[in-house]
Amino acid sequence: MLKAIIFDLDGVITDTAAFHFIAWKKLGERLGIELTEAFNEELKGVDRTESLRRILALGNQEDSFSEEEKNELATEKNDFYVQLIQQITPSDILPGIARLLVELKEHQLKIALASASKNAPTILERLGLSESFDTIVDPTTLSKGKPDPEIFIKACEQLAIVPDEAIGVEDAYSGIQAINDAQMLSIGIGDPVTLSDADHTFPTTEELTFEKLMTIWQLHKK
Ligand code: BG6
Ligand code: MG
Repeated sequence: MLKAIIFDLDGVITDTAAFHFIAWKKLGERLGIELTEAFNEELKGVDRTESLRRILALGNQEDSFSEEEKNELATEKNDFYVQLIQQITPSDILPGIARLLVELKEHQLKIALASASKNAPTILERLGLSESFDTIVDPTTLSKGKPDPEIFIKACEQLAIVPDEAIGVEDAYSGIQAINDAQMLSIGIGDPVTLSDADHTFPTTEELTFEKLMTIWQLHKK
């Protein structure tokens, strides 16, 4: 029986990718590393430390900094990102999501957040959605980031359900791998080619309704 929907945040509940890009780009410019939008795609769903590692590797600067210096660089990016997300308001909730969250509650389904972002509680607050989630996984408690399934398994544990009773919703390739490896049904939001491993893909969040999720669940769980 379907008991819960577990959501990613960035790219599913709201679109923060542009803010992450602006902040990483600014750091990159200071370090002489040029970031393109195409490269930014590879950072979606990837945690802060791993994102910085990939950016430094792009500029062949991976060995140029000590661990302490890398932490300072990640903090520099985050300080700027935190300034940028202050402009987020409830109007930045992606289409259909607010309605879906209400529908899920009406049907007694549990709702969890499985985001790699340490800024997730601030973003939910700015969106006015803090009360909509039954539980939020704290990414600082995890030993591995997406594509490892740990974050989705933890979300199920926090909801006291098993993965077989949940659907995971993700916009990133790494996130779909994590949901699949957690043995949950996976819904991708975005490009069906990039997300071809998902059990089902919707082009945008607008198509996500309780009814459609139930139809997909029944198809896959028969
Ligand atoms: C993910 C984003 O949700 O969170 C990544 O898709 C980001 O781009 C990651 O790097 C970590 O976010 P934060 O807010 O902890 O730096
Ligand atoms: Mg995402």
